[in-house]
Formats: sequence, C-alpha cells, structure tokens
Amino acid sequence: MLLTWTLAACLVCSARGLLTPPNAPDLFTELPPYVHEGGVLCNEENGCLTLSNATSVAGDDSLGRYVAVTRVYVTTSGARFVTAAKLYDDSNLTVFETTFPNGIEGCGVGDSSTLCSGYPVFDLTSSENSFRFVTPAGNMLGWGLYSQGSFWENSDRFRWGEHAGIAGFIVGPSYNLLVSPLEHPMGVSSWLEVKNNTAALHYGVQGRADSIPAGYRVSVIAVTGVKETEDPSFVHTVMEWGRYVQQKFGIANRSDDFTTQYLGYWTDNGAYYYYNSDDYSDYQMLLLGLSDYATAQDIPIRYLQLDSWWYYKGLGDGVKNWTARADIFPDGIESLKGTGWPILAHNRYFASDTDYADQNGGQYPFFIDGSTQKAVPLDQSFWDGLFEEALQWGLSTYEQDWLDQEYDGVSVLHTNVTLADDWLHNMAVSARQHGIPVQYCMSLPREALHGASESSVTQIRVSDDYHLAFNQWKIGHTSLFAHALGLKPFKDVFWTSNDNVNNPYVWCQSFNAGSSSYLGHVNVTEQGKPCLYWDTVDYKFRYPGDSLYENFCRNPGQMHDRAFCFTDAFLDVPEDLWQWEYCSIPTCDQDCYVHEGYSYIGNQSMTEHGYSCVDWNGFFGQQGAYCRNPEGTEDRPWCFVNADFSAMDFCDNKCLEAIEYNPALQSAVSTLSAGPVGFGDKMENINRDLVLKSCRPDGKLLQPDKPLTAIDDFFMRDDSQGYIWTTETTIGSEHTFGLIFIAEVGDRQSWTPRQLNLEKSMSKDYLSWTHYPYEENYIEHRADDAITILAFDKFMDFKIIATSPLFDVGLSRYAILGEVDKWGHVTRSRITGIFLDEISFQIEIEGSAGEVVYVYIYAGRTSGYVIRVAKCSFTSTLLRGTIDATTGLCSEHA
Ligand SMILES: *[C@@H]1O[C@H](CO)[C@@H](O)[C@H](O)[C@H]1NC(C)=O
Ligand SMILES: *[C@@H]1O[C@H](CO)[C@@H](O)[C@H](O)[C@H]1NC(C)=O
Ligand SMILES: *[C@@H]1O[C@H](CO)[C@@H](O)[C@H](O)[C@H]1NC(C)=O
Ligand SMILES: *[C@@H]1O[C@H](CO)[C@@H](O)[C@H](O)[C@H]1NC(C)=O
Ligand SMILES: *[C@@H]1O[C@H](CO)[C@@H](O)[C@H](O)[C@H]1NC(C)=O
Ligand SMILES: *[C@@H]1O[C@H](CO)[C@@H](O)[C@H](O)[C@H]1NC(C)=O
Ligand SMILES: *[C@@H]1O[C@H](CO)[C@@H](O)[C@H](O)[C@H]1NC(C)=O
Ligand SMILES: *[C@@H]1O[C@H](CO)[C@@H](O)[C@H](O)[C@H]1NC(C)=O
Repeated sequence: MLLTWTLAACLVCSARGLLTPPNAPDLFTELPPYVHEGGVLCNEENGCLTLSNATSVAGDDSLGRYVAVTRVYVTTSGARFVTAAKLYDDSNLTVFETTFPNGIEGCGVGDSSTLCSGYPVFDLTSSENSFRFVTPAGNMLGWGLYSQGSFWENSDRFRWGEHAGIAGFIVGPSYNLLVSPLEHPMGVSSWLEVKNNTAALHYGVQGRADSIPAGYRVSVIAVTGVKETEDPSFVHTVMEWGRYVQQKFGIANRSDDFTTQYLGYWTDNGAYYYYNSDDYSDYQMLLLGLSDYATAQDIPIRYLQLDSWWYYKGLGDGVKNWTARADIFPDGIESLKGTGWPILAHNRYFASDTDYADQNGGQYPFFIDGSTQKAVPLDQSFWDGLFEEALQWGLSTYEQDWLDQEYDGVSVLHTNVTLADDWLHNMAVSARQHGIPVQYCMSLPREALHGASESSVTQIRVSDDYHLAFNQWKIGHTSLFAHALGLKPFKDVFWTSNDNVNNPYVWCQSFNAGSSSYLGHVNVTEQGKPCLYWDTVDYKFRYPGDSLYENFCRNPGQMHDRAFCFTDAFLDVPEDLWQWEYCSIPTCDQDCYVHEGYSYIGNQSMTEHGYSCVDWNGFFGQQGAYCRNPEGTEDRPWCFVNADFSAMDFCDNKCLEAIEYNPALQSAVSTLSAGPVGFGDKMENINRDLVLKSCRPDGKLLQPDKPLTAIDDFFMRDDSQGYIWTTETTIGSEHTFGLIFIAEVGDRQSWTPRQLNLEKSMSKDYLSWTHYPYEENYIEHRADDAITILAFDKFMDFKIIATSPLFDVGLSRYAILGEVDKWGHVTRSRITGIFLDEISFQIEIEGSAGEVVYVYIYAGRTSGYVIRVAKCSFTSTLLRGTIDATTGLCSEHA
C-alpha cells in the first residue's frame, strides 16, 4: 500500500514531506525538530538531542484510525522529547503531536517571536513553485490583521506568532493545505523564518514558556485538500479542517443559545446608547423606556445587550467588580426584569485591584500583573460565583470581550503553558454547568481555536467594532473560519436608520506622524468644486488600501498634507497637469460639541451671529469667555454677549456627525451571517420595516442554515475588491435553496456551482432571480449550469441573487420564491416542509401569532409564467399553514 510505503520511506529518510500528496510539488517537507533546554537550543545537529527510538504503530482516537510515526528523543539532561506524526485513514488528515514525558526546565527563550520547541517544522522553499497563503491574525478571529497573498512576493505579510496561528496555503493548481494548533492552542505558536530565498514555518510551544510540566502535550493539525477537478476548493478544505477540529473535541452539540435565535438590542460601541443614556436620568429609566417604546411600536426586541458602561471599573479601566453601578441602575440590575428581556452582558479583562482577588481581600485566587494592571482568575470557583450571581439578575448569554488584551496583558498567560487554556476552560465549563452560552469578542485565532473545543462557546465576533466604519461589514472570510469551527459569527451592532442625530460619532480627519486619514463622505473641495471619481483616474487601482470610494475626499499615498480630490484630470493628460484642491474637513481634535454640549469645554468664543462671548465671571460656576451649556439647560452651548449679562446668543460649532450610509447592507449582512442580529439606534429612529426583514414579528430570526461565506475566488485575489458570498438552506433532506450576496464586483463573470459553493442548490434544475432589490428577472437553469453575475460596484451597496429548485408538477414547473420581503427567502424558521409528487405540491410553514405571511410561488409554463402569492394569516391558536402551491391557497391550522 502506498501509505505503508510512504511511512517506511519516512522512517528511513526522515524528511520526505508528509503533507505532500502524490503528484504535488515537493513543498512542505519536514525539517528536524528541536527543543530548548536551560535556554540552550537542542537539535540533532548540535548533538544535544539524540534519537533513541523510532516506531510506527497503528491506533485510533476520536479522529479515526491512524498510523503514528513516533520518535523518542533524549536531551543532554536525559529528558525525553517525543514527536509523533499521526497519519489517519482519511489520508488528507495528519496530526503532529509533541509530548514532554518528563517536562523540560528552561524551555523558553523569553521571546514571543520564536518558539520553545519546534515540531512540526515545514520547509516552504521551492525554486519552481509559487503558492499563496491565507493567514487570519489579530483580534475578532483574525479579522484585525488578516492577510493573504502570493507567498514569495509578500512573505513579510504572512502572519505568524502569538496573534496568528491558522495558516492556509493554496498551492499551484494541485492542492490546498490548512495548518493550525489543535490541542492546547493557547500554548502553541508559529514562527515563519525567512532567510534569503528560503523559508520555514515552525509550530511549537510558545517562546515565552518558562518550563514545561511533565506529561504536557500539544498538537498541530494539517488538512490537505487535493483538487480532484479543475475547480479549486480552498473553502472546502477550511470546512474539513474545522470539522476535524470539532470532531477531535467531540463537540457534536453546542449549548442552546437564545440570543442566536432571536432579535436583540445592543448598546455597545457604535450603538446610539453606548455610554449615552441620552435625556434619561440613568440607564434604568432609559432601558425601561426602550421596553415601553418597543411594546408600543411592536418592535420585537427579545433580549438586551449591556456593554462596558454598567459595572465598576478599577485600575487600567479593567473590571473592579462585575456588578451594576448604583448611578446606572439605582434599583439594581434586577430593575431590568421590568423589560422582560433576558440579558447578554459584556465583560472585559480584570483590573489588578479587582474586588474578587484574594490579594485584594476577595474570595478567589487570581494572578495579578502589576505592570499592566490586569488580572486573571485562576480557578473555576470564581466563574461559578460570578455566574450564580448573574443568573439571579437575568444573564442569558455571557460576552467575554477584550480577549486579546487580557491575553497580551497578563504575562503568566504566556509563561505558564497550561494556564491560558485553563483560564478559558474554567470559564467555559462553569458557563456550561450554569446553562450560560458564551460569546467571544476580540478573540485571537488561538482563542477561537480554544473556543471551538468548548460546547458552551456558541458565538464569536468576526469584525471590528461597528461605529459606522465603512468596511466593518466585510465578514465573508472570517465567517468562514467561525462557521468551520462551529461558532456563529457576529457582525456587531448596526443602525437601522441613516441618522441618529446627536450620536457621538464624527467623521473627521486625523493627523499623525505627517500623514492624514479621512474616511468620511465629503465630495466637494474647499472652493465648492465637485470632486472627480477616483476610478476615472485609475487611482482606485493604484491605491487599493486607501478606501478610494466614489469621489470622497481622501489623501491616497499621503500625496498631500490632507484630504483632497481632483477637480480636473484626464488619463491622457500628464499627471502633473491634473487639477486638485483640498477639501474642507474638520480635524478630529476639532473644537466642537456633541449632543447638547453639556460636557463641552472647548475654546469656542464666537456665537452663531458673530458676537464675542464675555467672561462668565463665575456665573453658573463658569469662568472664561467661552461657549458653554452650564447645567445642560439649553439644547446647545451659548454665552452672554454683553457686559451686564443681559443678552445671550447660541454657538454653532457642532461636530459633523457620522451617518450610516446603507442600513439595509448592515441588516442583510447581519441576518445572513446566521449569527446574532442586534441593532442599536436611538429608539425613535428604529426603522421597524427594516428590522422585520430579519425576523418574524415575534423576533425569531429568519436565517439561512449557514453564514454567507466567501468563495475561493476571494482567497485568490491580491486586491481587496469583489465580495461574492454564498449560503444554502435545505428544507427536509433534499430541497436546497441558495443565496448569492454581491458587492463591489467589478466585472461580469460566469460561475460554476462548485466555484460558488452552491453544489447542492444547483444540482437540480433551478430558477434564479434577483431577490434584493427584488426583480422579476427569472431564469430557468438546467442542473449544474453556471450562473452569470453582472458587475455591481456601487459604494456600500449590494444585491442578492436567490436560487430555488424547479419542480415539475402537473403541467407546470414550480419554484418557491419564498418571502420576498425578508432577507432569507426560504428559511427553516418559516418553511418546515415541502411535499410533492407528480400532481400535488404542498409547502408547510409556521408563523407567530397575528402574523400574515406571504409566500411567493413561481409557476412556469411553455407560454410564460405566473407568480402566485399565498397568504397565510395566523391567529394565536392557528400557527401553522399548508400552502397548496398549485393554487396558491393557504389553510391555517394548529
Ligand atoms: C520504542 O518506543 C515504543 C513506544 O513509543 C516502545 O513500545 C518501545 O519499547 C521502544 N523501544 C525501545 C527499544 O526503546
Ligand atoms: C544570503 O545570501 C547571501 C548571498 O547569497 C549570503 O552572503 C548570505 O550569507 C546569506 N544570508 C543568510 C542569512 O543565509
Ligand atoms: C478528506 O477525506 C475525507 C475522507 O476520505 C473526505 O470525505 C473529504 O472530502 C476529504 N477532504 C478534503 C478537504 O479533501
Ligand atoms: C443535542 O442537544 C439536543 C437538545 O439539547 C438533544 O436533544 C440531543 O440529544 C443532543 N445531541 C447530541 C448528539 O448530544
Ligand atoms: C464594587 O465596587 C464598587 C466601587 O469600588 C463598590 O462600591 C462596591 O461595593 C463593589 N461591590 C462588590 C460586590 O464588591
Ligand atoms: C501553571 O498554571 C497551572 C494552572 O493551569 C497551575 O496548576 C500551575 O501551578 C502553574 N505553574 C506554575 C509553575 O506556576
Ligand atoms: C456629494 O454627495 C451627496 C450625498 O451623497 C450627493 O447628493 C451629491 O450629488 C454629491 N456631489 C457630488 C459633486 O458628487
Ligand atoms: C484651548 O486653548 C488651550 C490654550 O490655548 C489649548 O491648550 C487647548 O488645546 C484648546 N482646546 C481646544 C479644544 O481647542
């Protein structure tokens, strides 16, 4: 057998690439392992590591049957260092284990950029072959520092180290590979060593480790995907990798999480009420008011998220204690029971003066890092106490935020190789025992990998904070990694309206180290001339990272001192003749007020009618000749303008507020992420019609089976243009419906089902049309036919194409168009069954009390088509309906 041959060859030659399938280029050959002991590098070459035994033994574990090539090495001091490559019967799966039977003293090198031990180490050098890499890195499951590209041209952008760890490779036309830590992911790091024209990728115990306890084991998983057809599928390899990771830890079932199934209201960064209780005396009044408002307006909010404004903070802004501040909730957090809403509550890193630590007189053991003012709880009893208390006041889901900062800021999480995994494990086990699901936020890839092994971790943030950023919705790639690991991706809060007047977010120009940045929407110059579109002068292509959308003022490549735009330029005219002008954009340290200016303490001293302010001279407790809103009695700052204080005037230096460019985009991406959906407008601005595109009137989310995820084409691109994301939903076992989300797509192209990851939905004859904005452009396709996607690259705009299988019943061909007014046309929270034969076709649906549901049905004939709209009106007792698709009639029943 080939397998035994490869193994035998490996035992002898020791270097032939285990990850290199037959016919693949000779990449990823293994290099010899090493370990540090007493701070000294030990490898076979320098004689301080001796191979004492090598065996090849068959066995099986949760990943299946394998043959393990085990090598026992002995260090100078006699400690053993055991490596094992497990080659599974699934020949695309290899696990590399490192075990330290006696532990190692002084393993660490004290440096997070290199490693304490090295196994496996892959040689990436190949003179003939080019290959691409995909490296999620940084927080939000690798969104923060995500990087991909062609390896040899961009090896400096390959992410490795403590903030990375998951590495994907797309090798020529022949195969893909995904490598990541598996067991004890918090103890494992990676290191890319590039010298001249050689490169090696090392995995091993992280470099800051002090010593390794006896019996410690880490492992690294590698999954290869051989491209059996001409179409590549990196996405499939990622999914296989995630499936194996989950299988390894036996995660068949994650905790039931209400907040992933129902609509929520959020108050985190970007929400209108983030550190802003507006005109209410406190958050208690505000949130009870919100609940009354939602009831009166029939807005189906089903849970409430509380962000970092509600608890006590200590040193370094960490958590002093996770209890409600008296000024925020005068009657305690229990007062929120009046809303009837369960609570999803945020928590962050612990402060060095946290009340919980025994060092500070508390009850629980903590490690305190004085230099960073952060602390970490050391055992499960702490979490048990925290969750027991929280269950009293209505905690439904626990959000552990600032995961990257907690890890980075507590040194012992790096030096003690077991502690970081134990910290997350204690949290997760206690959460599970208390029936509390967990959301990870700001997690590094290593933390996401740990979360994948915990059944109570259900959801994970996959992009930066919302606060109206232009690119925060771009989650198709990180959602893929979350989904592969069995975690529901969360896009974060969004606004359902363009404007939330008085919000604290401003678009302004910030300057640092001689460069300026601006991401707002000003599109005219200081002189009032209209700006030219950046793509008319090819700048969009030349400066792909500079957000050159539309004709918004920018400073591409830092060409000038601040944001500008071209006013007269042609590609056939030499560039030095192009006309440009600066734009008038407020600077971020501008002297302006937000809200009513109650907290305004700037230097503005001129009123809106051009009068100079006079000195307050102690009036209202104020000093100086400035615009002020003392005690917040007026709706904006003002001042006296004459010496005897008999006349006043208002000031108009209000900060320019940011707007949400496209609420529909935010709502669609959130809903089709198949993760949590939470909005956060000022209550009066909630756009109920948009809200109801996500859910039923009872707040139950109408979502596809899996998130919208990026397709292979995305991972092959060097620019950041082009977002085609897809998802499928299967009703029963055989009827599969597809959605294709399209944004910033610059050219028309035809896509096969496999390229779109829509093999199931396009495997039978199918209908396609534009689901959003809804268009009656129906096209009947044959099974497995490619689909053409037209260019569509309007700024922050999108389209959704839907597919639906065609059914021949009687003399017609039917397709379910589903709910045209919802983001998900066909979802399992609505359509519960499809029954058909040659003459009948029935659709079973469910709804909520008082709901009227419209299900659109396409009926095609040789002479054209008709659209039937079935209407089901549910009462409080009749909550199910059976639609006869051939007539369009609905009968409601219990
Ligand atoms: C080699 O290692 C295997 C297990 O790893 C063990 O069963 C065997 O006895 C060892 N052989 C020698 C000669 O040490
Ligand atoms: C890199 O290559 C140059 C010339 O080939 C050689 O002089 C130098 O020693 C090499 N550096 C390393 C780190 O191998
Ligand atoms: C890996 O192998 C299994 C079993 O042979 C197969 O089902 C799966 O599709 C393969 N995965 C990849 C990414 O090739
Ligand atoms: C998964 O959870 C559901 C409900 O909590 C339970 O009915 C089912 O048996 C579980 N399945 C497995 C495989 O544990
Ligand atoms: C939490 O911290 C605040 C502020 O220091 C303090 O007043 C309060 O008593 C603390 N609560 C608990 C439960 O320790
Ligand atoms: C490392 O942390 C573990 C808990 O994960 C603890 O039991 C152990 O004592 C710590 N080791 C050292 C050397 O502090
Ligand atoms: C600038 O943007 C506004 C708002 O989007 C639009 O109405 C206006 O036409 C634009 N002006 C120019 C010159 O593009
Ligand atoms: C107000 O003036 C003082 C003194 O000139 C200066 O330090 C401060 O930055 C100014 N504040 C603002 C908001 O411009």
